[in-house]
Amino acid sequence: MAYFLGIDLGTSAVKCILVGEDGAVAASRSEEYPLHTPQPGWAEQHPEDWWTKTAACIRALLADAAIPGSEIAGVGLSGQMHGSVFLDKELRVVRPALLWCDQRTAAECDWIEATIGQQELARLTGNRALTGFTAPKVIWLRKHEPEHFARTAHLMLPKDYVRLQLTGEFGMDMADASGTLLLDVARRRWSEEVLQRLGIPAEWLPPLYESNDIAGRLTAEAAQLTGLAEGTPVVAGGGDQACGAVGVGVVREGIASVALGTSGVVFVHDDTYEADPLCRLHAFCHGVPGRWHRMGVMLAAGGSFQWWKNHFAFEELHKAKAEGRDVYEYLTALAETAPLGSEGLLFLPYLSGERTPHPDPKARGAFIGLTVRHSKAHLTRAVLEGITFGLRDSMELVKQSGIQIRELRVNGGGARSPFWRQMIADIFGLPVVTVNSTDGPAYGAAVMAASGVRNVDITELCDRWIRPVTRTEPNPASSSRYESFYAVYRTLYDTLKATSHQLTDLVAEG
Ligand code: XUL
Repeated sequence: MAYFLGIDLGTSAVKCILVGEDGAVAASRSEEYPLHTPQPGWAEQHPEDWWTKTAACIRALLADAAIPGSEIAGVGLSGQMHGSVFLDKELRVVRPALLWCDQRTAAECDWIEATIGQQELARLTGNRALTGFTAPKVIWLRKHEPEHFARTAHLMLPKDYVRLQLTGEFGMDMADASGTLLLDVARRRWSEEVLQRLGIPAEWLPPLYESNDIAGRLTAEAAQLTGLAEGTPVVAGGGDQACGAVGVGVVREGIASVALGTSGVVFVHDDTYEADPLCRLHAFCHGVPGRWHRMGVMLAAGGSFQWWKNHFAFEELHKAKAEGRDVYEYLTALAETAPLGSEGLLFLPYLSGERTPHPDPKARGAFIGLTVRHSKAHLTRAVLEGITFGLRDSMELVKQSGIQIRELRVNGGGARSPFWRQMIADIFGLPVVTVNSTDGPAYGAAVMAASGVRNVDITELCDRWIRPVTRTEPNPASSSRYESFYAVYRTLYDTLKATSHQLTDLVAEG
């Protein structure tokens, strides 16, 4: 039997899965690597760690599953988006990569928008300059580390560094390339005009591919390190959001996905490119060839819940460990004991600043409305409600764009909780569906590999392999009650903006 290897290079770990010709997942494994925060708001990783851990993960996966490398018919790559990998002409890493969640480039974003003009940038790239995107990171390097800028000869995204190690080839898919701010998203090619106006050398950039194009083959050296066979085809793959959407079958208009990872993403498929001069949502190429998507990205969705668990759930962590259970199960059960609306307690999830709908690296999180009646159960529920209200903000932008959505597919860790799924259904006023594939972006990457190697459309493979498993309908009474709390939530960013900025500036002053 032949298998397809899906690799998802995440922010905390790499995940590798093997998918059979029938679409079933035969084995899965992950390996963690560190994230470095040398200064507040900075986030970096060493590309060498990605490659060492990916190679080890593939080798261990094949050994665990007792599947020889020769049975892997193709490899697909997914990964955290936007991160800047700078290599010199000898292909050595110039400095650690700046990641998607790094917030240091506010001044560079302002400079880019002033240099090109916000409307012109929207016309050329479909997007605004946001701190997470790649182009501002390049400008930051030129300004703050000119010696590193001078040494740089190649610029690529995280998973494309792994591609280079696997195949010896440069390459990038259009979905991931969309998040560099250097792509003409409408025409699916690098924007020479943006490159020239920003002074970024065009020769730093790799060739572009659609996600299911074969973009290289395993070298002898990579084969030896991973246990795969030399010559195994590697398709271009995609950024983790495009791969995650393919992985749950969001490959047609009318269905949206809500990804509850560290970040939180509302993702919609577009058959045609739709320009929005205000760029309220990101407008990117999809992993489905010749198609696009729009998305709203919250920086700390699952990340907010994880923060709450890490710092305030000692008791639950202890109990979960003793019983071998998942601590998040305890926390969602606790949240369920508090009433809808958490008795007037709201949580703002801007723990890492925010992107959609408030592109503001200085935004801060908050609990608003505390009284003596509030217990840990209320605070836990407020965290979940605040994250879900934040995601609803992106859905409002989707609606304002005139896109009709009839179903939401949830994926990521948060999708496991029936309580949270009901909350999403109620707050969005839409049915929430989970599907049989639960491996997210790694599964989407495997679908892309199978599509490229077997020459079958991605959409057709999704139809064959991905099926709904649970469906949660919104409860009209709860939806209407949530609506009132959401109306208050929506006022809070503006109310607290000046205070949040003051606090952030005070901390920066030291
Ligand atoms: C998407 C984004 C995040 C990262 C997380 O624009 O920044 O979802 O890709 O891995």
